[in-house]
Amino acid sequence: MFRARHLLGIEPLAPAEITTLLDLAETYVDLNRRTVKHSDALAGMTQINMFFENSTRTQSSFELAGKRLGADVMNMSMQNSSVKKGETLIDTAMTLNAMHPDLLVVRHPQSGAVDLLAQKVNCAVLNAGDGRHEHPTQALLDGLTIRRAKGRLHRLTVAICGDIAHSRVARSNLFLLGKMENRLRLVGPATLMPAGARDWGCEVYEDMREGLKGADVVMMLRLQKERMDGGFIPSEREYYHRWGLDAEKLALAAPDAIVMHPGPMNRGVEIDGTIADDINRSVIQDQVEMGVAVRMAAMDLLARNLRAERGAKASEMMA
Ligand code: NCD
Repeated sequence: MFRARHLLGIEPLAPAEITTLLDLAETYVDLNRRTVKHSDALAGMTQINMFFENSTRTQSSFELAGKRLGADVMNMSMQNSSVKKGETLIDTAMTLNAMHPDLLVVRHPQSGAVDLLAQKVNCAVLNAGDGRHEHPTQALLDGLTIRRAKGRLHRLTVAICGDIAHSRVARSNLFLLGKMENRLRLVGPATLMPAGARDWGCEVYEDMREGLKGADVVMMLRLQKERMDGGFIPSEREYYHRWGLDAEKLALAAPDAIVMHPGPMNRGVEIDGTIADDINRSVIQDQVEMGVAVRMAAMDLLARNLRAERGAKASEMMA
């Protein structure tokens, strides 16, 4: 079961849709570990990646995912595009739409920009991160990583730590982990806690030692300096002392707790480098691996719905 026309966020998805997507992603994890990593799920289809914000892992992951499914993939270089000449987002989208893409992958610094664009085009749109709003494939890859490491994706205590206020990763994960009935904790300085966080059904902690006690999953977030205009934290040194994940704080979590980070990491600011590299605790590299599989699953499911919709339209016209 997966009915969605676009993947704009986790908020509108049903738990069964999330499970369908993760189950399909498992098959792509297997495919990606073979020497010949090829499927023809998107054969003949065109995928365009439009990244209005810098990205290393998300863009390369979407590109590989599309190529492994047999799509023709184009990366629009937004730095050199007409956007710089003042063209609006919608004009750019309409121009691309006229080239008949089937899948459009979009990252944009403004919350809501990707939803707006999706209303103007007749292909499937995937949100690769819009401002502080949502980053659905990140939450899905985190969900798959947790499910594989812990053997389940429900009734876990998950501590999401750090710069919550600026984080679309935190928002999408709150929706996903909440829908799957986990116990959620938000941990961080009051200045980086969104207003109303206590109303989201999470426990909120300013004291990281309290927040980590007994947690099964410790999800660290990057301090998003580019979204801050000063005054949010005392100093990086002080931040690390109080909210950076080090061995001493991690010892308070469950003995088999896993450590996650979406990347890119600020080592020595939100996380100690030794913990990030400890393969017995950190699943950060697994997150990257799951990212390709989850994006393959998402594009495969959207392409199936797109084909069904176009098929139905064609038979309506014949009737
Ligand atoms: C995240 C993003 O861009 O929202 N990174 C990512 O997609 N891997 C988180 C971040 O930038 O800190």
